[in-house]
Amino acid sequence: MLQGKPNRRETLDILLKLLRREDAGRIVSGALLSEVLGISRTAVWKRVKQLRGRGYEIESTPSAGYRFISAPDKLLPEEIRDGLKTRTFGRVISYLEQTDSTNRVAGELARQGADHGTLVAADAQTHGKGRLGRSWISPPGCGLYLSLILRPPIHPSVIPLITLVAAVSLCESLNLQTALGVQVKWPNDLWIAGKKVGGILTEMSADMDQVRHVILGIGINVNLSLSRLPSDLRDRTTSLSRENGRPLNRVALLRGLLDSLEHDYDLFCEKGFKPFRRRWAGASMTFGRSVRVQMPQGVIRGVAHEIDERGGLRIETENGRMEAVLCGDVAVVMDDNIAGDEKRKQRRP
Ligand code: BTN
Repeated sequence: MLQGKPNRRETLDILLKLLRREDAGRIVSGALLSEVLGISRTAVWKRVKQLRGRGYEIESTPSAGYRFISAPDKLLPEEIRDGLKTRTFGRVISYLEQTDSTNRVAGELARQGADHGTLVAADAQTHGKGRLGRSWISPPGCGLYLSLILRPPIHPSVIPLITLVAAVSLCESLNLQTALGVQVKWPNDLWIAGKKVGGILTEMSADMDQVRHVILGIGINVNLSLSRLPSDLRDRTTSLSRENGRPLNRVALLRGLLDSLEHDYDLFCEKGFKPFRRRWAGASMTFGRSVRVQMPQGVIRGVAHEIDERGGLRIETENGRMEAVLCGDVAVVMDDNIAGDEKRKQRRP
């Protein structure tokens, strides 16, 4: 018997844990579940039905009990929470089968007072937003489309650094989990072998000297088949499964990412951007290479060197001057053939 009465959500989490413990194929009796959860056997049966409705496969054998067969390939809160090690990131989860944009939903929740660390996750987005007014194509069943609500105790002027912190954190975590050689492209892109696999869109609500909230939006192509993208995006986009040769478990990946993000966010709030500059150098695909940066005020060409303490990309220009770019679109120049982003303005990368 449990101490205190668990609420509905906790009951489902515990029920799943108990069923899973026997996932080697053993049957758990309804009587045992009823005793441990402190609910009637009819209530156990109702909860099992509820789990089935969410896509869990659970076998029931009259008079014997229940056997866990499989979990759905969905970002369900109870799946994400199972084994999650974070303190605040993803402790409150809002999951949507489909929405227009998780960033928009998270913004609304933040305005209503949602806690720091609240996660909004969707299986599909109809109007996923990308950087610089682009869109993020978000078909169902194959991506991670997430937004985290953050309430950082820092000045609005340093908020853009959160994107850089998140980029390197996601990159390192993906490499730890998949060994696929993910790299970062300043300021917010994740790439593998010259193709975009993910991106970050950070949005902020603040007044002159106080941040109300930040929405950290993350999109990663996990099990995406390129046929689901418009043809003009296929040659410069990839997915983890495409590089890996087989599908990956989105929930397990997400847990690892949340863990890494929380750790690095805390480090950033405590120590600032300094600890991340060297990590960026290790993860960057542009440092030491010729780049072309399209900025609102024009184009800069040169060799990308490093990230400065404000998060700017330091470029040695053709006339030998060092310039720090704070906002723009970077394209690596290969064989004098500029992989120019301005040619492909609409969607991503
Ligand atoms: C970019 O590379 O331009 C950034 C893409 C960010 C996409 C993610 S998907 C989840 C979150 N919700 C959105 O509408 N956008 C971000």
